Amino acid sequence: MPERWYQQGVIYCLDVETFQDSNGDGVGDLPGLVGRLDYLARLGVSTLWLNPIHPTPGRDDGYDVSDFYGVDPRLGSLGDFVELVHQCENRGIRLIIDLVVNHTSDEHPWFRSARSSPDSPHRDWYVWSPTEPPHADQGVVFPGYQRGTWSYDEQAEAWYHHRFYEFQPDLNWSNPQVRSEIGKVVAFWLQLGVSGFRMDGAPFVIEEVHPDSADRTMHYEWLNDLRDHIGWRRGDGVILAEANVPREQILEFFGPRGDRLPMMFNFAENQRIFLALARRTAVPVQTAIEVSPALPPACSWATFLRNHDEIDLSGLRDSERADIFAQFGPEPDMQLYDRGIRRRLAPMLGRDERRIRLAYVLQFSLPGTPVIRYGEEIGMGDDLSLPQRDSIRTPMQWADAPQGGFTTADGAVRPVIAKGDFGYPAVNVRDQERDPESLLSWFERVLRVLRECPEFGTGDYTVLDTRDERVLGLRYDAPSGSVLAVVNLSEEDCTVDLASQPGVTDGYPVDALADRDYPPAGDLTAVEVAGSGYRWLRLSRTIGA
Ligand code: NOJ
Repeated sequence: MPERWYQQGVIYCLDVETFQDSNGDGVGDLPGLVGRLDYLARLGVSTLWLNPIHPTPGRDDGYDVSDFYGVDPRLGSLGDFVELVHQCENRGIRLIIDLVVNHTSDEHPWFRSARSSPDSPHRDWYVWSPTEPPHADQGVVFPGYQRGTWSYDEQAEAWYHHRFYEFQPDLNWSNPQVRSEIGKVVAFWLQLGVSGFRMDGAPFVIEEVHPDSADRTMHYEWLNDLRDHIGWRRGDGVILAEANVPREQILEFFGPRGDRLPMMFNFAENQRIFLALARRTAVPVQTAIEVSPALPPACSWATFLRNHDEIDLSGLRDSERADIFAQFGPEPDMQLYDRGIRRRLAPMLGRDERRIRLAYVLQFSLPGTPVIRYGEEIGMGDDLSLPQRDSIRTPMQWADAPQGGFTTADGAVRPVIAKGDFGYPAVNVRDQERDPESLLSWFERVLRVLRECPEFGTGDYTVLDTRDERVLGLRYDAPSGSVLAVVNLSEEDCTVDLASQPGVTDGYPVDALADRDYPPAGDLTAVEVAGSGYRWLRLSRTIGA
């Protein structure tokens, strides 16, 4: 099966609002992002994922959309967006945008119309109940900040369903008119040049809610339709879905023949990466890979450590979650929604660069395409004085200059981190660009090697039995070649024997990436890897190649 573009390279996730301001109003914008594309190209980014850019009242950082066909005026115009597409194309960078179609803002004209009268043409575009549903307080996504999943609307004199906050009424996907309109939204942005979408809350989009019972009907066939539609408009268009679902449902979402969602974030693995880091053992990650179902052709995982939300640890046992909280988020205000951590990686790991590098190499060594969040490449910190997830959504720190070089205004859309170990004088792009030993320079090198090893995204993988719980071993085989990844989660130096496993010795191992110089791996019977160290070994066909 030929590889697909989204199975290679690196996806970089950013919020336009906090990336780079170009007009001095304190808000990041599309022209500002265009001005930073060369930075992203040099870093090795192959795809940009933009958090929502549409007009919004801004009560959920843009995930409350009031017009799917526009660009929020604070960020720029549709013209600026087309210029961004063009400039990305010039640099060989693809663009995907958030598709937030489980719900709209309550200020969207469709909802205003729907609530105004039972006879509104949009009334049935949302999910209503004349009386309070018996399970109205269940299924909340933001415990502590969201009262229930049904709210009473005075104007409509009815209850409406909302999976998320009460100002995000759910669209009624059972209504074919809604599905048809979303088809137009998707076609619109594809026509403007995006390569696909990050689909928000995919499981909620396809659930049919019944006001009288807690049962929900899942309409997987809507995913087939969406996929087909995107494919007809743009043959290589991708959907990267947010679908944090139990293992048994994973293949339903990809589709039995890979005909639904081509790519999903690997939430199960994300939680187990943090467990592995907390316990300094490879076992949780190894098990997560082993129990993960084989994916249908052309389907892929997107791996991640941090994104724009809290780290959701709800899939773990209480004792596992407790270990992660104890290590990485011990204070109550570091935790969120009774399940997660609202910190960036560098502060979680106590600014220990060796461990930060270990964590990212671990992510990059796993099957799939890595997604990284803006600012992680320089080790940005968080601001826990900001509410909920805003702690990890502070402006990008470009330089030791006023407002970190993010804006020329006196204030920014969200406070720039200015003081302490993570303030912009200590953590910024410009300083790190000049320092070959910096985290940024390290990211550039690793991403370059990663792009030279397409096997991580496209190859068949085998978990190697390293006979040492501290060390993860993976082998990848693809027509382009074979790669071994060896990652030591512990602080002790280890030596593992990889030679006794079938197929492993059919090549000469050459270090493609390593945390330091090692003696040549030779016949693989004794592969050394330092504490918190790592090695990617390419099995070349000839000595020295
Ligand atoms: C998931 C997004 O990642 C999150 O940021 C948002 O609040 C909810 N969906 C609602 O759209």
